[in-house]
Amino acid sequence: MTDFNEYASALRARMDAALNQVIPDTPGSQLAEAMRYSLAGGGKRIRPLLLFASYRAMAGGADHPALDIAACAIESIHAYSLIHDDLPAMDDDDLRRGRPTCHLAFDEALAILAGDALQSLAFELLADAPALSDSSRVQLMRCLSRAAGMQGMVVGQAIDLAAVDTELDITRLEHMHRCKTGALIDASVAMGATIGEASPAQLNALARYSRSVGLAFQVHDDILDVTADTATLGKQQGADIARNKPTYVSLLGLKAAQARAEELHQEALAALDELDGDVEPLHLIAQYVIRRSH
Ligand code: IPE
Ligand code: IPE
Ligand code: MG
Ligand code: MG
Ligand code: MG
Repeated sequence: MTDFNEYASALRARMDAALNQVIPDTPGSQLAEAMRYSLAGGGKRIRPLLLFASYRAMAGGADHPALDIAACAIESIHAYSLIHDDLPAMDDDDLRRGRPTCHLAFDEALAILAGDALQSLAFELLADAPALSDSSRVQLMRCLSRAAGMQGMVVGQAIDLAAVDTELDITRLEHMHRCKTGALIDASVAMGATIGEASPAQLNALARYSRSVGLAFQVHDDILDVTADTATLGKQQGADIARNKPTYVSLLGLKAAQARAEELHQEALAALDELDGDVEPLHLIAQYVIRRSH
């Protein structure tokens, strides 16, 4: 791979175009507008990057025709999670990707419904994705639904909200992070590998990789809440502190949180040593996750 930034920009442009097409044309529909608004530009598309990179580590060669749709399905779940995360009843945030959050750009009821509809859209996309065997399709749907729901992102969010104004120990904090953020990152990697017809041993090595990358991603998100500025972040800096959320930084301090992110980065790279396909993109993404500025 010549230049990761170039590769990532090209994939982001490809995702923006693909996501632009997944909402059916329904003139005058505010719901469709709110969904489009929340899928649109400014996302880092880290989950699609991981899905494509993990496919590449398995299959090399030409892209499979289901990859773009599977990546759209993951971004659709992710966009829904962000809309709901920002709601007044949850993190009550005003800014997302440098723009007003969905409930401010539209209204609260429509934001809730746009999130709901993005969630079902994800599974509709997978049901219709091209060139998959029935068993791969079911595996993809099972993987994404588990990662999104009561054993994954949603329970992580429930733990997060219950933890406001409390102190979690490190084990519980890690569990919360692995659920609210790690689960969808695990699914992105596993889905790319499934489309690439990975063996159980390859899936295991990739699961170890994504477990470390997923946690590192949220540790770095906690760090950026303290170290970045609002304009760069595209979301309100200091939001975790303002809401008294337990984070890696509040629990361990900035230096130890940074050291933990680096340790997880090394663990991710060690997992890749067990694979013999083209793992360079996965290497570069692991580094990006803990070096990114927003
Ligand atoms: C933000 O996710 C929420 C977390 C899980 C930390 P991203 O940082 O991937 O958000 P976008 O898609 O790039 O805006
Ligand atoms: C969000 O975690 C995780 C999600 C499932 C959306 P945060 O609440 O820390 O994400 P940001 O910082 O608002 O993007
Ligand atoms: Mg939150
Ligand atoms: Mg939030
Ligand atoms: Mg955050």
